[in-house]
Amino acid sequence: MTIKAYVYDAYGTLFDVHSVTEKAESLFKSYGKEISEEWRKKQVEYFMLHQLTQRYIPFSEITRNALLYTLKKLSLTCKEDALNQLMGAYLELKTYDEVHETLEKLYQREVKQIVFSNGTNDMLKPLVKNRKLDRFLDVLSVDDVKHYKPAPAAYSYAHEMLGVNRDEILFMSSNFWDITGAASYGFKTAWINRAKLPMDLLCIKPDFEFSNLSELLKHETKRPSR
Ligand code: LAC
Repeated sequence: MTIKAYVYDAYGTLFDVHSVTEKAESLFKSYGKEISEEWRKKQVEYFMLHQLTQRYIPFSEITRNALLYTLKKLSLTCKEDALNQLMGAYLELKTYDEVHETLEKLYQREVKQIVFSNGTNDMLKPLVKNRKLDRFLDVLSVDDVKHYKPAPAAYSYAHEMLGVNRDEILFMSSNFWDITGAASYGFKTAWINRAKLPMDLLCIKPDFEFSNLSELLKHETKRPSR
């Protein structure tokens, strides 16, 4: 298999969305974990519904709406400052332990590396820079085409921007809904099964299943022909 591009999902794959728990706990004692879990669940539900009903709004707005809903559901009153602090935590998400070293090693393979995410550029670019990954990665946001992953139009945009055959792209995500979208579009896929979950029954199988990104280092992908 000749891979000419590595494409990474952002939230849950390179960055731990639940690293917002610390900030949430500092603002709402004993609610941190519950806020983080409900917030992510609602964020995913909201972009799926906006995509299905063809009413695209930017991921930054979706993320804020999901947070407002979460705080309302938990009957937590939140001042503007606290809301901005929580939204700001999305620009400081922690990377998973193996990410920086793995991307640096893969960078030596001279295979193009991009992060391709439902996040907006104003969320992704500062985060990638803050986590010192901008050396290895270009950023691509679905906001450029106003279609959310897992819609085919989103992956088609990444495919067009990369300028290689779709089966020369290895797409990596911890979110199985994202693997489903990328695999059905025709990318090669590696499911980064960080949570050791059973595979969802969506009539699709990834080409690889890794527990974290470092396992990719064991899979030599042929260098692109010069
Ligand atoms: C991403 C999230 C939504 O696209 O998984 O980065």
